[in-house]
Formats: sequence, structure tokens, C-alpha cells
Amino acid sequence: MRVLFATAELSPLVKVGGLADAASGLAKALTSSGVDVEVVVPNYGNWATQGDDDRLDVPDWVGGATAAQIEVADFGPVTAISTPSLGRPHPYTDDRGQGFPDNDARFFGFSAAVARLVELRNPDVLHIHDWHTGSSLGYLRQSIPAVFTIHNPAYQGTTSSQWLQTFSYRPNAYEWFGNSNPLTGAIALSDAVTTVSPSFAREMLDGQHDFGLEGPLKAKGDRFTGIINGIDTSVWDPAVDEHLSLRYDSSGGGAKRKIARELIDGLGWNLGTEPLIGMVTRITDQKGVDIALEVAQRLEHIPARMILLGSGDASLAARAQHIADRNPDRFVFHDAYDEGLAHRIFAASDIYLVPSRFEPCGLTQMQAMAYGAIPVATPVGGLCDTVFDEDASPGEGTGFLAEDVSADSFLDALQRAARMWRSTKKRGQMRRRIMEIDWSWSASAERYLDLYEDLT
Ligand code: ADP
Ligand code: GLC
Repeated sequence: MRVLFATAELSPLVKVGGLADAASGLAKALTSSGVDVEVVVPNYGNWATQGDDDRLDVPDWVGGATAAQIEVADFGPVTAISTPSLGRPHPYTDDRGQGFPDNDARFFGFSAAVARLVELRNPDVLHIHDWHTGSSLGYLRQSIPAVFTIHNPAYQGTTSSQWLQTFSYRPNAYEWFGNSNPLTGAIALSDAVTTVSPSFAREMLDGQHDFGLEGPLKAKGDRFTGIINGIDTSVWDPAVDEHLSLRYDSSGGGAKRKIARELIDGLGWNLGTEPLIGMVTRITDQKGVDIALEVAQRLEHIPARMILLGSGDASLAARAQHIADRNPDRFVFHDAYDEGLAHRIFAASDIYLVPSRFEPCGLTQMQAMAYGAIPVATPVGGLCDTVFDEDASPGEGTGFLAEDVSADSFLDALQRAARMWRSTKKRGQMRRRIMEIDWSWSASAERYLDLYEDLT
């Protein structure tokens, strides 16, 4: 089975969010299952390539495109596509965090190049991810079984209808309320559409979190499914994690406190018998950062201390900093994207917050569990498929789930988590239980492989 796998992000090469982790984790797992996967990414960095470039016969408006191999440490060989507009310091935004005004042209150009690469390679299946690659199906000149995975339907890449005339295949499929929409076009033209958890698939179909896509997805019938993401357990494993000064596994509870003490060194905090709460996130409305900031203002009532690491929306970040300045004894905010610090926060945290308003899958609740931090989450999307409330089935839970998406019920779930954590015996049992869950990609990669085989 030969699969051409196109994505705008890939860990550890280029990562903005979970798309990078999911693409890389799935591609690695498929490769281990014997699938011949060619991963294709935009060359954002004018990265050094190996061997000869393949010149791709893209339309003139792209300004030329080449494909060449790069070797990514801790991943393997990747095909990087260069066009004149792709190479920039950040995949999507300028240094003020504003989306580049030509992102439509950049990713339509990337997609046109992917379509030409498909002609050169002639794989058995084309697997594309999110809106950035969605228009490749409209640039194909041959028929090929195609899988489209929706990681985040909040981003659709909707733009001017003028782009419709650039498509060689069924341009009307991309027409969306007078605009051009690479996401809805890919839904229409692919043979199978997946999203990244079964619960989120249901929420999209029942209109709860559909972002206008309920109709097109219903039209796919049983060719639309939810397959839960995994995490890359070669990267997310506290027993071998090089970001930690101490390694531990499910048998040792003491290491977490030592790592926590190191992490809060210099803050003047004495954790005593209080839990340390962590959160690592993109700062956007999606992630419920406002709910987390409500928590941050009520820490003395839990009682607990909290570390938030995040980057993104400037006004929410300023609010987080303001609250941190007023509560230096209990709350610290790191306004950054920092991979190493993220790993240390997961390891140091006793309780981990995921107050998302919607969540196609969510990876951090699984990363938290792998590091023995108890997740407290809202009941949405993939969080419902991974966080099972301890009070609903005592002794079997994997965390605590709020009743709904509101600060009050989230605080209630957090209070329940903190109460349980105060029992040394119960917290030890839960820590062991959640650390021993298999969150690897293996089962879900098999589901994708079944899908590829069905299509071929
Ligand atoms: P999303 O893709 O919606 O941002 P996910 O939970 O699927 O959410 O994935 C987010 C990924 O990015 C996780 O691997 C998480 O650990 C990482 N991450 C998020 N914010 C930061 C940050 N500020 N610093 C380092 N890593 C981060
Ligand atoms: C998106 C979603 C997130 C998911 C990730 C990887 O960014 O917001 O829920 O885990 O993609 O699929």
C-alpha cells in the first residue's frame, strides 16, 4: 500500500498545534504497519534538500514549484514542496500574529503542487489533512482514492470565488455561499472523510459543533467517520523524556513532586499538601482560556497553585498576565510556545485543565495522563472519548468531566478532582491507572489502514 500523505504541519519539523503531532504520529504508525507513506509538507524554511529536485508542472499563478527530499531528525525522510510564497518564518502568521493576506494563494499553490506530485508518484491513496491541502482534489487531473481528515473545522480557508476558475476538476464542488471553500470542496470530492474522534463526528452531524458543515457531512453518509487520535509514545513517555531531570514510570510517585519543586523554584511557593495544576495550550476561544482564568482567580478556595503555558490571542494573554500579576503566590503565566517547558509542566502537574469549548480530539489530556496528571475537562468532542469521570464509575475513571461548558460546572469538576487528590491512596491508584493506558497510535492507524484498503 503506497500512500501520499499531505499536511501543512509535521512534528518535530514544523508545529503550530496538534495537527503536527497527529500527522507525524499517524504517519509513523502507518509506516510501522508496513504502509509505504510519502509525507509531503510545504518547505517554509528554504530547508536544505537532498538529491535532485522534481520540477512540478503547476499553473503559472503559483510561480513554479519543486519537490525535494529532506531528512527530518526523529522522523525520517519527508518530501518538501517549495514555491515562491511558502517560505516564511511562520507557516500562517506574521510577527504580530496576523494571518498572511495571501494564505489562500500559498496553500492553493501547495495543493496544486501536491496534485502534480500525485501524477508523478501514482500512489494507491492520497490522504490530505485540513483546509490547507483541501484544494488538491480540485487540481487533480486523474482519479485516485482520497481520504480527507478534518482536524479543525473552525479553519476553512474560505476565500474569493475567483479561485474557482483555477480548478481543473468539478470547480462547483468548492463553491460555498458565493465563495471558494477548500474544506467543503474536499468533503465533496474525497471518497472518505474522517475527523479525529467519534464524539466530535457526532457533534458535527447533530449540528452542535458543525461550523456550517452538517449538510455536506450528512451527504457523505457512512463515508464520514470519527477515528480517535493517539499520541506518539516515543515522544510522550516520562520514562525516557530528555526534557526531564528525573525520569519516572507508573510505579514511582515521588518524582513528580521533585520535578514540580524544580519547576516552581524561584517563585517562593511552598506546595505543601496542595496540588499543582497545569495547562498547556494555544490561547484561543476554542480552548476555554477564559474558564481557566476563572479558575486562576479562585485558587485559594481549592486550594491549589497553577501554571499556564500558552501563546496566541494577545488580549487573552494580557488578561492572563494581569491575573498572574495580582496572584503571584498562586498563579504563574508563561506567554510562550516552549516544547521543553510543556513536557516539564505535564510531568510536574497533579491536575491538568482542558476547559475547551469544542475539541475535535485534543492531545494534551492524553499527554497529561501519560505523565500521571489527572485531567479535568469539559464534556466535548474527543475529551468525552478519553476522559471518563471518576465519580461516575469509581475506581475506573481517567479524570473528571464537567457537566457542561461553563466556569461553574468546570470549577465543580475541579473541586471533585482536588478532593480525590487529597487521598494519597486514591491519587496513587488513579495515577497508575492513567499512566498505564495505551494512548499510542497503533489501534487508530489500523482503522486508517482498513479505510485505505476499503478504497482500493
Ligand atoms: P490544538 O491542535 O487544537 O492546539 P491539541 O491538544 O490537539 O490542540 O494539540 C496541541 C499540541 O501542541 C500538543 O502537543 C501540546 O502539548 C502542544 N502545545 C500547545 N500549546 C503549547 C505551548 N504553548 N508550548 C508548547 N507546546 C504547546
Ligand atoms: C486540531 C484540533 C485538536 C486535535 C488536533 C489534531 O488542532 O483542535 O482537537 O487534537 O487538531 O488532530
